[in-house]
Amino acid sequence: MSYTAIDLFCGAGGLSLGFQQAGFDILAGIDANQPALDTYEHNMNGAIALNEDLFKVEESLDDISEKIGHKNPDVIIAGPPCQGFSLTGSRDLNDTRNKLYLAVVKAVKYFKPKAFLIENVPGMATLYKGIVKQQIINTFEDMGYAVSVTPKPLLAADFGVPQIRKRMFFVGYRKDLNYGYFEFPEPTYNKDNYVTAGDAISDLPSLENSLGEEVSDYIKEPQSTYQELMRKHADKLYNHVGTRHTEEVKWVISQVPEGGNHKDLPKGVGNSRKFNEAWTRYDSHKPSKTIDTGHRNHFHYKWNRVPTVRENARLQSFPDDFQFLGTKTQQNRQVGNAVPPLLAQAIAKKMIKHLNKEDKDAEVDRQLNLRI
Ligand SMILES: C[S@@+](CC[C@H](N)C(=O)[O-])C[C@H]1O[C@@H](n2cnc3c(N)ncnc32)[C@H](O)[C@@H]1O
Repeated sequence: MSYTAIDLFCGAGGLSLGFQQAGFDILAGIDANQPALDTYEHNMNGAIALNEDLFKVEESLDDISEKIGHKNPDVIIAGPPCQGFSLTGSRDLNDTRNKLYLAVVKAVKYFKPKAFLIENVPGMATLYKGIVKQQIINTFEDMGYAVSVTPKPLLAADFGVPQIRKRMFFVGYRKDLNYGYFEFPEPTYNKDNYVTAGDAISDLPSLENSLGEEVSDYIKEPQSTYQELMRKHADKLYNHVGTRHTEEVKWVISQVPEGGNHKDLPKGVGNSRKFNEAWTRYDSHKPSKTIDTGHRNHFHYKWNRVPTVRENARLQSFPDDFQFLGTKTQQNRQVGNAVPPLLAQAIAKKMIKHLNKEDKDAEVDRQLNLRI
C-alpha cells in the first residue's frame, strides 16, 4: 500500500526525494523560494510545487488542500529553518514566536495526518537547554501524537551518504490509531566502510582546463558502486560547472595537502581566511565535511577549485538525473539546504513499516469484527 505525503519547506526536495524513493506518493511541496520550487517540480515526478509564505500558514491551508484535491495526506514532512526561537516560559509553542514551527503545528492540526516528521540541525535539540525541544514534544503530544526524538542526531554517513552531516528529527504517530512510539533506523554503515568523497566523485571531469557546461558528457565509467547508483538513471552530466578562482586562491589551495586546512599552510600564506573551516581540502578516503549553502572554504580533494554543484549533490546523495535549476548560487543553496535523500529514505522506509504495522492490526481487527 502506498502512503501519501506533503512536504512543508520543501526546498529543492531532498527530504521529498528520499520519501519518494522509499515508496511514498508525494502530493505537494510547499516553499517560498521560487528557484527551489522550480527544481522541485522539475524532478519530483507528479508532485506539485506550491509557492506559499508559511509565516502566514493560516491563509495557505485551504489553498494547499484544494490543490491536492482535498485529500488528507497520510504524512506531513517538514524541514523548517531554525530561526525566530524565543522563550516565554510557557510549555506551549503557541506562546512563542517560533512561527515557522507553528506552520507545521497548524498544518498537522488541519490535516490530521497519521504521522509527521520534522527535521532540524542538531543545535535545535540543545537550544535553551533543551526547552525548545521539549516545547515541540509537548505541543504535539497535547495534540494527540506519540512523539519520538532522535536520542542523538543521526549521522548521514551511517546511512551510506559520503558526508559527515548530523541532523535531528522528531517523528510523531497518532495516538488514537495505536501506532505506539516510532523507533529510528539503526546505522547500516560504520567508520570502516563509510562511502568516501573519492567513491562519490572520482569519475567526474576535473575541469582543470575549462569551466565545463551545464550539460556535458561523462568521460569515465563509474569507479565505485556508489557512482553506479548515482548514475543509474542518467546518461548526461548536469550542473558540473567549475568556478573561476583568482591565481592567488589557486596558489594558496595548491599548498594544502589532501584532508588539510589553513593550519597546514606555510607561515604567511592564506592569511585572509583563518577560521576553523578555512582552506579545507577534502580527503578522498573519508566522507566530506558538511555541505553548506555555498561558502568558498571547501575544496576538491585533488583539484585546486571548490566542488561543483554536481559534486556537492553527489556528496549529498542526490542522483545524477536530479537537475538543479536557477543560478549557481541558488543551486548551491538548494543542495546545501537539503536533507540527504539516502538518509531521508532510511527513515521513510522505517516509517512505512510502522504505518503498515498499524494497518495490518486494523485489518485483523476488522476481520475479527466481521466474524463476530
Ligand atoms: C532547510 S531548507 C529545507 C530543505 C528541504 N527539506 C530539503 O530537504 O531539500 C528550508 C526552506 O524553508 C524555506 N522557507 C523559509 N522561510 C519560509 C517561509 N516563510 N515560507 C515558506 N518557506 C520558507 C526556504 O526557502 C528553504 O527552502
